[in-house]
Amino acid sequence: MKYFFILLAEFMILVNSGLQDFKFRPNLPLGEYRLYFNSIQQCNQKCSIHQNFYLFKTSSTKVKLRGNMSSINKSFDDTLWFHGSMSVKDKIGTWQNNAYVYSSPHAYKTVKNLLGGEFHVFLNSFGLNDTKQHIIPAGTYITKGYDLSNYPSNTNLPKQIFYGTYKYNINYTEKNGDLVACYMFVLDVKRPWEL
Ligand SMILES: *[C@@H]1O[C@H](CO)[C@@H](O)[C@H](O)[C@H]1NC(C)=O
Ligand SMILES: *[C@@H]1O[C@H](CO)[C@@H](O)[C@H](O)[C@H]1NC(C)=O
Ligand SMILES: *[C@@H]1O[C@H](CO)[C@@H](O)[C@H](O)[C@H]1NC(C)=O
Ligand SMILES: *[C@@H]1O[C@H](CO)[C@@H](O)[C@H](O)[C@H]1NC(C)=O
Repeated sequence: MKYFFILLAEFMILVNSGLQDFKFRPNLPLGEYRLYFNSIQQCNQKCSIHQNFYLFKTSSTKVKLRGNMSSINKSFDDTLWFHGSMSVKDKIGTWQNNAYVYSSPHAYKTVKNLLGGEFHVFLNSFGLNDTKQHIIPAGTYITKGYDLSNYPSNTNLPKQIFYGTYKYNINYTEKNGDLVACYMFVLDVKRPWEL
């Protein structure tokens, strides 16, 4: 299975190899990186799974995800679809929207594969465990803090990405396309030694 970021990296390598069709041009070269999360937003749409997340800075370089996930009637599982779209800031600071779009069935499995070793750390921070059934039952789950400062270490994100500022929109939907959950985050891909 190919994951969002791996496809993303492949896409970026395509771009780097000089395909003229792409409008997308990265600001900076490809390389090893650290992710710096700038903001996270809920979407305005009514969703049955609410992800009320916010970022909490514990120092100039440390940031934690806080907040809650809650649903009264919908579990998060592999019946849902994952839809990710990426926008990137171009050289003159304009967002290139939907520079990359990726959809995959089996939302739970997709996120699990993407987060790799971090998946259970993420779930544990909400008092949850990974399950063979690939399900987070309906309920309210609160995290006091999930550390985002070391990304991408311990995940399956690619080893190298173009440096720059990105906006990700992630939607989970029913197979028929009905929106179930939705959020967005803005992050910087920086050189590991840049603060
Ligand atoms: C589930 O709850 C949401 C509100 O969170 C509501 O909009 C939706 O209609 C409910 N669905 C069912 C099948 O009860
Ligand atoms: C979940 O987060 C929202 C938004 O911050 C907040 O209004 C709500 O009280 C939280 N719910 C719980 C159970 O903590
Ligand atoms: C997510 O859903 C919103 C609202 O329907 C839509 O505007 C957006 O394009 C969707 N994004 C993805 C990545 O599917
Ligand atoms: C998760 O696993 C731990 C250790 O195996 C256990 O103590 C805890 O009760 C489990 N939590 C849930 C919500 O199943």
